[in-house]
Amino acid sequence: MTATDVLDGLLAGLPPEIDPLPIATQFAALAPPFTVDDWVIPLPVWATRAFDDGPDAAWQTLRRDLSSATTTTPMCLYLHVPFCARKCDFCDCYSFAMRSHDQATMDRYLDALCGEIAAWSAVGQLAERPVSTVHFGGGTPTHLGPARLRRLVNEIRGSFALSPETELALETTVGGLTPAMANTMDELGFRRVHLGVQSLDDDVRRLIGRRSPAAAVRSAVDAALSRGWILSVDLICGLPEQSNRSFLHDVSSLAAAGVDGFSLYELLVYPQNRLWAQANGIGDGRNHLPNYVAFLAGAQMLEAAGFNRNTFNHWANRRDRNVYFTFPTRGEELLAIGPIADGVFGDYHYRHPRYAPYVRACRRDGVGLQGGLRRTARENELHPLISAILSGRIPPDTVAAIDHAVPGEAITHLWRERRLVDACADGAMTLTASGSWFAGNMVKGLTKRYPQTPRG
Ligand SMILES: C[S@@+](CC[C@H](N)C(=O)[O-])C[C@H]1O[C@@H](n2cnc3c(N)ncnc32)[C@H](O)[C@@H]1O
Ligand code: SF4
Repeated sequence: MTATDVLDGLLAGLPPEIDPLPIATQFAALAPPFTVDDWVIPLPVWATRAFDDGPDAAWQTLRRDLSSATTTTPMCLYLHVPFCARKCDFCDCYSFAMRSHDQATMDRYLDALCGEIAAWSAVGQLAERPVSTVHFGGGTPTHLGPARLRRLVNEIRGSFALSPETELALETTVGGLTPAMANTMDELGFRRVHLGVQSLDDDVRRLIGRRSPAAAVRSAVDAALSRGWILSVDLICGLPEQSNRSFLHDVSSLAAAGVDGFSLYELLVYPQNRLWAQANGIGDGRNHLPNYVAFLAGAQMLEAAGFNRNTFNHWANRRDRNVYFTFPTRGEELLAIGPIADGVFGDYHYRHPRYAPYVRACRRDGVGLQGGLRRTARENELHPLISAILSGRIPPDTVAAIDHAVPGEAITHLWRERRLVDACADGAMTLTASGSWFAGNMVKGLTKRYPQTPRG
């Protein structure tokens, strides 16, 4: 059977409200290196080469850079909380199970975070800089419990210039949104919640180790919306025993329930979840085409319902500005705190180590970094181009910059031919749903072809 036959079968199985033609057209336009099975995730610059500086030199460099910085551009704050009630077999996030009775460990972790918060707030003018969002990622930050979350938020409010406009946001599971936690979040001023739904099919949920049934997710969605929070949900396609119809039913029913934003993922199989994936019939040589179709159909459904993409895999209504994930498009800097968290000030990127060395280093020095690197002139030129691709919209001057920097290669022309982008009347380009699937490949291809000697 050819790929086109398989595609026809998949398109025939879609719900009637999906128009199969745009999906078939986008698929037909693909050619190597854009092949559905070979999509890659976009990598940050620090993941593509070694750090320039080790932990101490990185911290000194950041302090030196920031001591002379006078910018009043807002910054984002990200705090990583790697704890969860249990580690889900499918999960690729940096997180681990922390039993709730292990209070002492969590308190020690909070001491480390608070030490790092204090260290950063003493650097340059950071304590006075406006803050656009404070985003608690994980893991499951609600696993800290109300008292620790309160301690953390109070520490941040006391250390940085949060304003009524600052959006407080966190990532959580349904189980983490207990009434006590939800009340505390309201009291602390949280306005945005990222709820990891993954799937609303109870059989699929069981296979991925979700304990709460779909009915509990629906109640949590209603409860979150009735509090007035901006609610974003994460959904994954390609889960074991999940049909495309079931994935699309989740998209449409959550949109109908009033959810503000959707992050769509394909299940990633990494060394840490490979055995679980294999045990559930998802082998290394899996065919990604069904998931590509589900992803494109989900995007189509959301766009038909009035959602717009504000990063390559996130669709949002007007309320959902997705403030943390869109920070580069506003020229903001990112102060990231906690193990494995990575931040950026100007052209300097830094990252933290994993949990144990992080806590050790914070206890010793107040702050624990893994290392840092300064973007080269070439990386500096590429940086806004990559940010634009990942934002889902490439403005006209960025399209021109790509064409100017890589003449003769007609990169943007190729993207159009492959139906990864649509050209807008003003000269901008927007990612198609297929472009969202291949955003990492577009970044990789551009980076490979970009001249080694920048043109300035
Ligand atoms: C920080 S994680 C989890 C948030 C929350 N703890 C939860 O479980 O719902 C953010 C999101 O990453 C996505 N994710 C985790 N593992 C994944 C994988 N192996 N493949 C694709 N997406 C994954 C999930 O959609 C998840 O909600
Ligand atoms: S999916 Fe969420 S709850 Fe499960 S281990 Fe990953 S971060 Fe924790």
